[in-house]
Amino acid sequence: MTTTTKRKKPEELRSHRWYGAKDMRSFGHRSRTAQMGYNRNDYAGKPVIAIINTWSDINPCHSHFRQRAEEVKRGIWQAGGFPVEMPAISLSEPFQKPTTMLYRNLLAMETEELLRSYPADACVLMGGCDKTTPALLMGAISMNLPTIFLPAGPMLRGDYRGQFLGSGSDVWKYWAELRAGNITESDWAEIENGIARSPGHCMTMGTASTMTSTVEALGLSLSGYASIPAPDSRHAQMATQTGRRIVEMAWEDLKPSDILTPASFDNAVMTTLALSGSTNAAVHLIALSKRAGFNLTLERFDELARKIPVLANVRPSGKYLMEDFFYAGGLRALLKQLGGLLSLKEKTVDGKTIGELIANATVFNDDVIRSIDNAMVKSDGLAILKGNLAPDGAVIKPPAAESHLLKHTGKAVVFKNYDDLSARIDLPTLDIDANSVIVLQNAGPQGAPGMPEWGQLPIPKKLLEQGVRDMVRISDARMSGTSYGACVLHVTPESYIGGPLAFVKDGDLIELDVPARKLNVLISDEEMAKRKAAWVAPAPKFERGFGKLYLQHIQQADKGCDFDFLETQVSTTHSDNQKDGSRGGEPEIH
Ligand code: FES
Repeated sequence: MTTTTKRKKPEELRSHRWYGAKDMRSFGHRSRTAQMGYNRNDYAGKPVIAIINTWSDINPCHSHFRQRAEEVKRGIWQAGGFPVEMPAISLSEPFQKPTTMLYRNLLAMETEELLRSYPADACVLMGGCDKTTPALLMGAISMNLPTIFLPAGPMLRGDYRGQFLGSGSDVWKYWAELRAGNITESDWAEIENGIARSPGHCMTMGTASTMTSTVEALGLSLSGYASIPAPDSRHAQMATQTGRRIVEMAWEDLKPSDILTPASFDNAVMTTLALSGSTNAAVHLIALSKRAGFNLTLERFDELARKIPVLANVRPSGKYLMEDFFYAGGLRALLKQLGGLLSLKEKTVDGKTIGELIANATVFNDDVIRSIDNAMVKSDGLAILKGNLAPDGAVIKPPAAESHLLKHTGKAVVFKNYDDLSARIDLPTLDIDANSVIVLQNAGPQGAPGMPEWGQLPIPKKLLEQGVRDMVRISDARMSGTSYGACVLHVTPESYIGGPLAFVKDGDLIELDVPARKLNVLISDEEMAKRKAAWVAPAPKFERGFGKLYLQHIQQADKGCDFDFLETQVSTTHSDNQKDGSRGGEPEIH
């Protein structure tokens, strides 16, 4: 067992500057804390634990977080800490337009600045709905206080006449059936009422389940907790345990910089691959690694994908849902199956190594969590493509595509933007067939803006009616982790800034070769140069406000879409990071 011998003294706590000093300012801090009904005995000499809570009335995935925050506080009080709940923007995936991704970095900044500007010694981060997980952690990694991420947990399985429904995946599936005329409006309304029937995040292997799992693999959540269904009483118990443990971590001064290493990021990538997790992980994990001072690349994803089997039989690539995954043993059991492929000596917030934590994990259903010998697919949970259409890379999820499309050449049918796509995709006169390649331009980080999850481009109604259910589709957008299909995503550089995707025209032949990792438009270099010379850069999408800041500083997908000024200087060790407090330096606080 790995233990930390170092222990802070009360006067070494960061919050001592607010509460312990003998000056007029600390009088103000104490008197205003008294105003809230607390006595000095409640906080004096105790670690102040910030609970960053992304609850809101418009985030159904976090609708249990008000109660969970109380359960975290219970644990903090029990362990001798002082809990302070701080709300942060919620990033509600189903409601926020054009996309929560536009605001991921805003929540990351808010998290970092809340922790910096208030008397926090350590923090519990409450998130789970897609972008909240990477955003909270990006901010907390930059601030580098002892941190535990508390995952929202998946919602219960959806239900439709006794059949299980999966978030997102079954929406796309039944929407296609409705458009094809195979189900009625009344069936569709029944599905609407049954698909999301409890608190918690999407219960397919979407971005939420992928990211909460990878955070556990990184060692930043308590072990075994990422997949507990949100309404399960064990989820509430986990919240209290998180509260107890974070107080200990504050005394131990066990920070993200003591836990995260290049090998722990490899573990997170391998976890994503074994789960057949969301393509969005390729953006978020790169952003997180750069915050930690490391340089995870798309190429590393591809290297690891060639040797990591897909073991989770969970939709959209498999059959089951997260509730089944939890009952089958959860993430610990899956990591145990990966065994020696992982770096088992990496530290975690539990104070043990990942190897120690998974040593006794058991698989209770080997159809849900497969062994390596009985893997869903032997490798290539994700693949990184390059070529003259994506010089800096593009992403595809091969297990979610019809296999005959993974090596395919077809004529491009190009849409200039999302409005153009919406207006023309179902026109009976559209010149398209099942072998065509649908191309969407201007859907990337700057073009959309915000790189929305538009990448599962719709199949034309007339082809749906003919029984077509998958086609090669290419864009610089992202795709929901709950989506499926032969969708090439994150084409970089994006078309809006003059990436080659901008120059594709109707009728160009496009070659996709996933085994060879190639994505090319079959035109000559001279023709490409001619089209590039004729291209006119579009006007910026925002003239003021956060949008303007976003456009000025957002980086491309292969860099993780972080703002350039928020990245940590990349180093190979953590020695450059400040020992106490933020990586970027903490201003003197008066
Ligand atoms: Fe919140 Fe899917 S809508 S995780």
